[in-house]
Amino acid sequence: MIKRRYVLALPGAVAAAGTLAACGGDDNGGSGGSGGGGGDSVEVFTWWAQGSEKAGLDALVEVFKEQHPDVEFVNGAVAGGAGSAAKDMLQSRLQAGDPPDTFQAHAGAELNDYIDAGQITDVANLFDEFGLRDAFPDSLVERLTVDDAIYSIPSNIHRSNMVWGATKVLTDAGIDTATPPASLDEFLEQLETLKSAGVTALSVGTTWTQVNLLEAVLMAELGAEVYNGLFDGSTGWDTPEVTAGLQKFEQMMSYTNTDRDGLDWPDATQQIIDGTAAYNVMGDWAVAAFEQAEQALGDDFVAFELPGKEKIFGFLADSFTLPEGAPHPDGAKAWLETIASTDGQLAFNLAKGSIPARTDVDTAEFSEYAQTAVTSFAEDAICSSIAHGAATSVAWLNAIADATSQFTTGATDLAGYQEALKAAADANQG
Ligand code: GAL
Repeated sequence: MIKRRYVLALPGAVAAAGTLAACGGDDNGGSGGSGGGGGDSVEVFTWWAQGSEKAGLDALVEVFKEQHPDVEFVNGAVAGGAGSAAKDMLQSRLQAGDPPDTFQAHAGAELNDYIDAGQITDVANLFDEFGLRDAFPDSLVERLTVDDAIYSIPSNIHRSNMVWGATKVLTDAGIDTATPPASLDEFLEQLETLKSAGVTALSVGTTWTQVNLLEAVLMAELGAEVYNGLFDGSTGWDTPEVTAGLQKFEQMMSYTNTDRDGLDWPDATQQIIDGTAAYNVMGDWAVAAFEQAEQALGDDFVAFELPGKEKIFGFLADSFTLPEGAPHPDGAKAWLETIASTDGQLAFNLAKGSIPARTDVDTAEFSEYAQTAVTSFAEDAICSSIAHGAATSVAWLNAIADATSQFTTGATDLAGYQEALKAAADANQG
C-alpha cells in the first residue's frame, strides 16, 4: 500500500488494497460522485489520433463493439505524441466542468494531479467487479493505488528506453548490427562513426522526445537505484552523478538533427524507417510504426535498450479513468471493462507495440520484439518514465521539459540546466 505522492516501486510483493467501501452504490458500479446512467455512448479521450497509435485504438474499439454493441464509441482523440497537446486540452475541459467520459492517463505519479484536484473517481470497486486484483502485476497495482483507492485501469505496459536503428545505414557505416553496443560510451563511439560517415547519427524531435532521450540516458548512466532515487529524494539532482548523466545527454544531442521543433515521434522514427538517419531513442510504440511499414526486426531495423550500468526496463503504462461528473459513467464503465479484458488487452497490445498489463494474456502470438519486452519486464530492473507520467506529476514533467528546452536551444548552459532540474525537483517532490 502506498500513500499519496508515491513515486516508484520495483516488482515485488505489494498487498493490494483491502475491501473498500463503494462510494456510490449505483448502477455505475459505485463511482464516486458520477452517478449512474449514460450507457448509450462513451467519449474516450486519448492522444492516439494518427498512424500506428490510431491503429492500436481501432483494434481496441473493435473489441469494444463486440463486447458492448449498444454503446456508441465517440472518439475524443487529440493528436500530439505523449499527450503534448491533449493534456492541456484535457485540463481546460476538466476545469470547465466538461470532462470526457474517460481519459487516457499514465499509471503512476501523473495521476496525483487529477486525484488532488478531485477530477477522477475511485474505481477500486470496478477492480473487484472485473476480478482485476490478481490479473495485474503487484508492482502495477501499487502504482495505481493511492490511500487505499485505485484511480485508473491499465491497458498496457510500454518500454521507454529503446534504441531503434536502420540496419542498412549502420552496416554501410561499418557498424556490426549483430551485437548491440555494450555501454553508453560504445554507443557514443558509434554515433561518432556515423557522423564521420556523413549520416544523421541520432534523430530526435520536439521537446518531449528530448525528455524521453534524457530519461533513457539517466537510467543508463546512473543505474536503477540511483535513477529511482531522483524521485523519492534519495538521489540529489545536484550531485556529480547527475552532472555526468547530463554531460552524456549533451553529447548525444550533439549528434542529432537540428530541425527538431516541428518533429513529433512518428517523424523522428520515420527517419529510421526511411534510412535518412541511423538511430532514434524512443518508447516501443515505435515498433508498431516499423511493423506498419512492413519492416522486419534484424533485416530492416534493430532494437535494443540504451546500454548502461545494468539492464533496465523503462516503465510506463497507459490507463483509463472515470472522471468526476462524466456524462456517461455507464458508457465509461463499459469501456473500462473492455480495456481490462483479456480480449481487449490482446487485440490492443498486438497492434500498439506494448505488452499486456494483465499477466494472464497468452503472448505466444506476439512479435519477436514484444517477447523481449515481456522478458525484460520480468527480469530487469524497473525505472519509471519521466516523459510518460510514471515518475513525475504533470507539473514536474512540465518543469523538466521547460528546462530541457532551454538547454537544447542553447538558452542555458549545463550548469544552468542542472540548477533548473534541481529547482523543479524541489518544487514538486512530495
Ligand atoms: C505515451 C503513451 C504511449 C504512446 C506515446 C507516444 O505517453 O503512453 O501509448 O502513445 O505516448 O504518443
